Amino acid sequence: MTSRTSLSAAADSAADMADSLVGAEFAFSTQDFDRIRLLLRQHTGISLSEAKRSMVYSRLARRLRATGRPSFSAYLEGLRAGAPEWEYFVNALTTNLTYFYREGHHFQILADFLKRRAAEQRGQLLQIWCAAASSGEEAWSLAMTAAEAFATLAPPVRILATDLDTQVLATAKRGVYRPDQLSKVPEALVRRYFCEEPDGGFSVRPELRALVAFRPLNLLDPVWPVRSPMDAVFCRNVLIYFDRTTQLRVVERIATLMPPGALLFVGHSENFSQGQRHFVLQGRTVYARAGMQRQPA
Ligand SMILES: C[S@@+](CC[C@H](N)C(=O)[O-])C[C@H]1O[C@@H](n2cnc3c(N)ncnc32)[C@H](O)[C@@H]1O
Repeated sequence: MTSRTSLSAAADSAADMADSLVGAEFAFSTQDFDRIRLLLRQHTGISLSEAKRSMVYSRLARRLRATGRPSFSAYLEGLRAGAPEWEYFVNALTTNLTYFYREGHHFQILADFLKRRAAEQRGQLLQIWCAAASSGEEAWSLAMTAAEAFATLAPPVRILATDLDTQVLATAKRGVYRPDQLSKVPEALVRRYFCEEPDGGFSVRPELRALVAFRPLNLLDPVWPVRSPMDAVFCRNVLIYFDRTTQLRVVERIATLMPPGALLFVGHSENFSQGQRHFVLQGRTVYARAGMQRQPA
């Protein structure tokens, strides 16, 4: 059995190791790390575990160099939400992993749902919210799914794609990807929905661009600039960064934007027991908004 003494010795040496980042370019104390964690959690909901210490160091060390700050405490000194550096600080600490057709089963479910819903709603545009769009692969996958479902480049669908991170959002809006980033997109769809650029990149076709609007949005903000009721919401692989209370609050607010029967798609590792009051499980990590379905007139 490990003794208490050896456990605390291990903890101390872990702290020493972390503090030995001090020996790196900039001193990085536990106090600096805790201040960063608190700021980030308060303003974005993202909870960083102790294990993220060296990630935080390396990502923010770049900002210290860029801004000419001599230490983490000097960098953190004037850092407030709304300060010029704030956006860079947040952008540096988000995790943006994404790829085309991630969790592929969602897109088949969405295609069937859109066709059914369009038939019910008779000509009304269907609204999809991609609530943590990152660099755009998810939103463009949604647009291609809609175009394929209705066999037209002008499907009756509009997609709002939002993210907190303004840098990835600019990439999303630009809509140009390298061939390796398109590896999960079937060849025929690449030909149908992308134009090859002179530098070998692939740019999303203008018709598909007309379906998607990109906007910055922090899921923690008290007001979301999201107007219409949403027929489908993709809120995938973002709730995992939040604590339980924040997850619950965000899911409850999303539910208010969804009419009965609308679908919510979450990430495969997102524990969703907290949404059960508003949603009924529909398929693997897909939930339908509970409530009475309005019958079409
Ligand atoms: C891992 S990516 C997921 C991308 C995509 N949804 C997917 O599943 O592939 C998580 C995204 O959530 C965004 N994010 C984190 N906190 C957020 C918040 N409070 N409001 C809005 N977006 C947030 C990050 O900027 C990042 O781009």
